[in-house]
Amino acid sequence: QVTTLTAGAIGKDGYRHYMEKELHEHPLVIGQTLQRMVDPATRKVVLPELPFSLADVPRAVITACGSAFYAGMIGRYWLEEIARLPVDIDVASELRYRNPPLDRHSLGLLISQSGETADTLAALRALRQTAVHILSVLNVEHSSMARESDAVLGTVAGPEISVASTKAFTAQLTVLACLSIATARARGHLDPLREEELVSALLDLPTRAADALAQHDAVRAMARVVAEARDVLYLGRGSLFPVAMEGALKLKEISYIHAEAYAAGEMKHGPISLIDSSVPIVASAPHTPLFDKTLSNLQEAKARGGRLLVFTDTKGAERVSAIAEQMVVLPHVHDFVTPILQVIPVQMLAYEVAVLKGTDVDQPRNLAKSVTVE
Ligand code: AGP
Repeated sequence: QVTTLTAGAIGKDGYRHYMEKELHEHPLVIGQTLQRMVDPATRKVVLPELPFSLADVPRAVITACGSAFYAGMIGRYWLEEIARLPVDIDVASELRYRNPPLDRHSLGLLISQSGETADTLAALRALRQTAVHILSVLNVEHSSMARESDAVLGTVAGPEISVASTKAFTAQLTVLACLSIATARARGHLDPLREEELVSALLDLPTRAADALAQHDAVRAMARVVAEARDVLYLGRGSLFPVAMEGALKLKEISYIHAEAYAAGEMKHGPISLIDSSVPIVASAPHTPLFDKTLSNLQEAKARGGRLLVFTDTKGAERVSAIAEQMVVLPHVHDFVTPILQVIPVQMLAYEVAVLKGTDVDQPRNLAKSVTVE
């Protein structure tokens, strides 16, 4: 980190770019967002009052664009697994033309940092036609989407300047995790002990996120390999598949290197033929219940000459070190919150690659912070 402030760096608190500054705000925004959603006395999730009952919602449809969409994919895992709520999810630019059959008690769950994204706003209006409840997860609380929603759950990420979203993403995940807990309780799928276990895992996250940021040198070493590549394959399974998607999007967005994300188990159905030593494989493989499966997918890639760059955790490190060329080791946390933690160094990797490539990190070509056209 550069500590000398120059005139141009004011507002970046001495960091090289807004993106770097915002990456370092992950622990803070996760903590601030939790403060709004968790009662410290009871350690229970307490959402703002909603104009409908989560107990009566028969299904949800989640929609968003870009990174917010990947946050929604992780939200789907949680709502299905913890709250046993059926969830449909689609990118807003598709959902707005799909007209999915929904009954009027369904939940339309929209996610957006800006609250101004044209496709997401149009999807909100399309859902409104079917008279579902509209709940939006927004960072800008006085936005167009806020005005048109039945209720808003705010992410407390503060202004995000860098075009590449970082801290808003973990704040969105934090809100979605709390929403999943509240929905599970309302639907009778969560006993108090399990709620305490999940909330404790969330409350531990700000400290763990700071530990993840401290892995800076290992991430930089990985970045040197990725910066030389023309194509990169990102892999993950379960709730870490959207983390792989987020990593690939971020790399494309700011370093202009082609990257594709695949569910690790799907690799053998096609992309495995791409693998050779010129295509680095960036994998998220912490010790979750899918660890063994992911590892065996990575072994298949290695056997075909793939160079493995792996994000893992203290529990998975020993086995990963046997096959990976490089790894980043994060603290082992509860499975539930693993994607929130693992995405931090994955975003940092894209940042470091972009710095090595010398691109305009905060303002990548052809992109706007808020996409207000269809
Ligand atoms: C992410 O790094 C992007 N810049 C982009 O995908 C963004 O997440 C998307 O445009 C959605 O924006 P929103 O959250 O403001 O709706």
